Amino acid sequence: MKKHKILMVCLGNICRSPLAEGILKSKVDSSKVYVDSAGTGHWHVGDEPDKRSIAVGKKYNIDITQQRGRQFSTSDFENFDEIYVMDNSNKENVLALAENDSHKEKVKLILDEIFPNENVDVPDPYFGGDAGFENVYKMLDEACEQIAQRF
Ligand code: 4NP
Repeated sequence: MKKHKILMVCLGNICRSPLAEGILKSKVDSSKVYVDSAGTGHWHVGDEPDKRSIAVGKKYNIDITQQRGRQFSTSDFENFDEIYVMDNSNKENVLALAENDSHKEKVKLILDEIFPNENVDVPDPYFGGDAGFENVYKMLDEACEQIAQRF
């Protein structure tokens, strides 16, 4: 059977989406679901995840050290079945690259999984303290639990 492919997207692909990728991977059968992540920005292409994301992941036994930053590309609309964005700004940036309705329909705000229709963002923790990363982890863990239950 064809694998279901899920892409997690944030701005830098070093803080939020690498955690989302690692958390969801830990909750699904990798023979059924493929999970990847990307950033809408180009600044961190090839970089390891942020040390603070690595640390909070490690605290909960999620190892994201092998991930490397990559930039979202229009080919991702064809390669993935679902594209989860971390915030409304990411959503705008991704939708701006969509070429048709089928592309647009794949784009979903990840916290809609736990707060449907409330339009809640996963806050960008990059310029905040470590507490921000713990908060991000918990939100993503809950959202990924919902996603994983469908597989
Ligand atoms: P992320 O956080 O989108 O969760 O990976 C950010 C990381 C880096 C930058 C912005 C957000 N940056 O501007 O370099």
